[in-house]
Amino acid sequence: MFARSLAKAAAKPAFRPAAVTSVARATFTTSAKRFEPEVPVVSYGSGQRVEERLSVPHGQSGPVNPPGGDQMKVAHPLGPNATQHLTPTLSKFTLSGKVAVITGGGRGLGYNMAQALAETGIRGIAILDVQEELGDNAARELSEQTGVDVRFYKVDVRDGAGINQTMQDIVDHYGALDVLINAAGIADSNIKAETYPHDKFRRLIDINITGTFLVNQAVGNHMIASGKGGSIINIASMSGSIVNYPQEQSCYNTSKAGVIQMTKSLAAEWARYKIRVNSISPGYMDTALNRVPALEAQKQIWVQNTPQKRLGDVDDLNNLAVYLASDGSAFMTGNNCIIDGGYSLW
Ligand SMILES: NC(=O)c1ccc[n+]([C@@H]2O[C@H](COP(=O)([O-])OP(=O)(O)OC[C@H]3O[C@@H](n4cnc5c(N)ncnc54)[C@H](O)[C@@H]3O)[C@@H](O)[C@H]2O)c1
Repeated sequence: MFARSLAKAAAKPAFRPAAVTSVARATFTTSAKRFEPEVPVVSYGSGQRVEERLSVPHGQSGPVNPPGGDQMKVAHPLGPNATQHLTPTLSKFTLSGKVAVITGGGRGLGYNMAQALAETGIRGIAILDVQEELGDNAARELSEQTGVDVRFYKVDVRDGAGINQTMQDIVDHYGALDVLINAAGIADSNIKAETYPHDKFRRLIDINITGTFLVNQAVGNHMIASGKGGSIINIASMSGSIVNYPQEQSCYNTSKAGVIQMTKSLAAEWARYKIRVNSISPGYMDTALNRVPALEAQKQIWVQNTPQKRLGDVDDLNNLAVYLASDGSAFMTGNNCIIDGGYSLW
């Protein structure tokens, strides 16, 4: 039991037997049964109703990551005639003929979401990243794996002029810009607020908030000019809605709360231009961002405090990203989608 859970338990009101009515007692008896190690299952697979009971071994509340769950996977192109055979529902998830920009796409969550988009019939993908070798390799691999026209731009999201120039080049090359996934971001952890260095605080805010805005603005202007609108997905974090434990990281948490509120503000302003703006808030993910020695011990606590008992795999955001990018989510805007294995429930 960790300090956070203990603190929560201690905060609950004390049990008072005198106040329990017969109804309350009956409810208590019923709810106690819910914890029997069996789960009723009803299936209709063969057209007939089949009832089963699934036994649940004690002490296992969820799987842990299988070894290799975070390894690089290969993207597969959508076959040339595949879209003709899709049902109306599934065809809404495709991005045939569309063009996407992905910042921070050189590795990690950004690269994995780029791979996912490349599997949906997309026409072009532009990867933007500040790390040249990573971005270059990512673009080459993705293009080799799927045949999609992938370009890489080495640009810092803080560089407004560089971002504007990049977006213009993307529109000139592809003739369109339909989707933005804004995944570029950095994290600082284990820094107490009372001694947080001012320059470090400013740098993180500049990348995570100002950078996100500059990219949204540049892309938004092209989407407005095109008259067709588009879909923007900002990668925020559950840290924008909860305070992480046990590491102190007030600056990162603040920055991601800013990304969520920016997403809502832009969604409201740009709905009239058919631009949808949503955010994804991941929980703890198994990426390079978290593979630093200072976080190793804390990772065990993160896993314990996650109902699914695992960190997110690096491709665990992929299908949500495709959904938000596609017409499947046409009526969704200004939404912050938390995807965290249940971490923020406790
Ligand atoms: N990994 C997690 O547990 C987690 C959880 C919640 C949210 N997130 C967010 O998801 C996003 C991606 O995280 P990740 O885990 O894949 O991290 P990552 O470090 O693996 O990838 C981030 C990429 O962004 C690029 N980048 C950083 N600063 C940049 C800048 N100024 N300009 C352009 N590119 C820049 C990096 O070069 C890198 O390729 C980040 O915004 C992060 O805050 C991550």
